[in-house]
Amino acid sequence: MTGTSTSIRIGLVGARGRGTSFSSSLKALNVTVAAVCDIDAACLAKCKSLMEAEAAFADYEQMLDSCKLDAVLIATPMQFHAAQAIAALKRDIHVLSEVTAAMSIEECQALVKAARQSKAIYMMAENYIYMRPNQFVRGLVKAGLFGEVYYAEGEYIHELKELMEQTPWRREVNNIRGVVYPTHSLGPILTWMEGDRVERVCCQDSGTHYRDPRGDAYSSDSVVMLAKTRQKRLIKIRYDIVSDRPHAMANYQLQGTDGSYESARSSHERDKIWLRSVNADKDVWLDAGTLMQQEAYGRYLSPGWQNPPEMLRNAGHGGGDYFVLQDFIAAVRGEIDNPIDIHCAMDMTLPGLISQKSILDGGAWLDVPDSRLW
Ligand SMILES: NC(=O)c1ccc[n+]([C@@H]2O[C@H](COP(=O)([O-])OP(=O)(O)OC[C@H]3O[C@@H](n4cnc5c(N)ncnc54)[C@H](O)[C@@H]3O)[C@@H](O)[C@H]2O)c1
Repeated sequence: MTGTSTSIRIGLVGARGRGTSFSSSLKALNVTVAAVCDIDAACLAKCKSLMEAEAAFADYEQMLDSCKLDAVLIATPMQFHAAQAIAALKRDIHVLSEVTAAMSIEECQALVKAARQSKAIYMMAENYIYMRPNQFVRGLVKAGLFGEVYYAEGEYIHELKELMEQTPWRREVNNIRGVVYPTHSLGPILTWMEGDRVERVCCQDSGTHYRDPRGDAYSSDSVVMLAKTRQKRLIKIRYDIVSDRPHAMANYQLQGTDGSYESARSSHERDKIWLRSVNADKDVWLDAGTLMQQEAYGRYLSPGWQNPPEMLRNAGHGGGDYFVLQDFIAAVRGEIDNPIDIHCAMDMTLPGLISQKSILDGGAWLDVPDSRLW
């Protein structure tokens, strides 16, 4: 599909929390929601009306086969992502899949094969990459202002015990030990380490200190994965959806020879940055938000963030939901390269899957496969 005049016909599968949250961005980007699909009839009816969709389906493959879709947006529980993406790719329907891409190595291999054989594109909807501070750091790194980048941290600390009861599939996923939801942390970091990928990981957890309403222990509270990249950089990822404490889902740190960044850990704090080229005094943090407002530094933001559309006020995840959808549409139209293609999606997903093996192996360092070689 090429040209900007035609509206893309999209089918949405998974019509509750996440699926519904895309509604304002879909509207703003002039996407036609041709159909919605959900196995829950009440959710389906509500979402059909909200999205002003032409049709509604309880059966996903029926939707794929009967609506002349250009693309699907997959917002079902993680357990369904790979199979639903493969079903669309086999029909040459473009895929924007929620994170993570897949739940096992075997699913990853099948997904990569389907993406290779399809005429359609596969993109993973890793929206945290598009958050304003993350795009700013990306621009600064690209311009060389961090010098040589060699260390990063990412944390997804988001207490979800209540949500796990409301969405039992999350409770089920939580029974797996390891970093089962790595992409929000790894995604932005890998864009700061462009051209690099995680080659080895090891993983440990802090045990279990909480029980669910049935008295069953959660699999882990804090999980920490260490990762070494091909270019010998070190990354630390902490994942925790159980511990009682304020949320801190978009925590990042980056260290280079000429710069350092620490994101705010709460709404009371500010994102901090130190850049040798701005102030050589190594004891002085700068406010990253203030720096990006200065003309000389604002130009390191992505073009979208330099002139943000009005509707970003309503777009979720700090505007990330709007930009990830915008890029998907542009990639479908052939206007840009697919920014989070199947191999990028694998680079963000596979380390978490291998962390699950490492934790069962006493925290051993294990190799992360490179999907480009499959
Ligand atoms: N990128 C982000 O910031 C972000 C935020 C929240 C959730 N997510 C991801 O989005 C996905 C959905 O999360 P959620 O919170 O909306 O979950 P949810 O449980 O609220 O909604 C999932 C919906 O999918 C439906 N569903 C389940 N199986 C189906 C099937 N086989 N066919 C059709 N519909 C089916 C359910 O009935 C439900 O309405 C998850 O993968 C989650 O990891 C991503």
